[in-house]
Amino acid sequence: MNKTLQVLYDEHAVIVNAIDTARNTGSLIDKDNSFYEKIIRGLIRFFRLYADQYHHHKEEIILFPDMASRNEILGSGVIHEMFQNHEDFREMIRNIELNLDQKKYHDAQKQLNQYTEALLDHIAVENDELFLSAETLFNDKELEQIGFRFSDCDRELGDQKKQELVDFADSLRKELLLGE
Ligand SMILES: [Fe+2]
Ligand SMILES: [Fe+2]
Repeated sequence: MNKTLQVLYDEHAVIVNAIDTARNTGSLIDKDNSFYEKIIRGLIRFFRLYADQYHHHKEEIILFPDMASRNEILGSGVIHEMFQNHEDFREMIRNIELNLDQKKYHDAQKQLNQYTEALLDHIAVENDELFLSAETLFNDKELEQIGFRFSDCDRELGDQKKQELVDFADSLRKELLLGE
């Protein structure tokens, strides 16, 4: 696997771990609602910052536009779809939060399950389809340049904050395992 694309694969793995946590929270509802709310609010924070700000951001401002400029069919097809997914994900997170604010925990969990399912599908398309296309569209030198821009992006947002978010997702996972 190319080093640049490995960055995105690795981020996907971190996100998939948090998805797994999100899928195990439902049993807390009606048993310990305040604990449930605490974990879900933590997950929302993680998905907003890590999945959206750090990860989707790199795809949206660097990789996808570069790929679309090389291949129009890809740009108006699957890449367009990926952009739309990211938009939908933002709205889904807003709705989950709204339901939490209104203490509608079952609705929140239902939407969280829909969100994580859609996000898993999205990640599968990128891993199995899009990143392979990227490897054929760009040569090694070009991928290296894209990698430098990825690093710039993370640095601007904060490398340390990025690691803190990975640790934060781990801590939520552990807390859930211990708390149940
Ligand atoms: Fe994406
Ligand atoms: Fe992605």
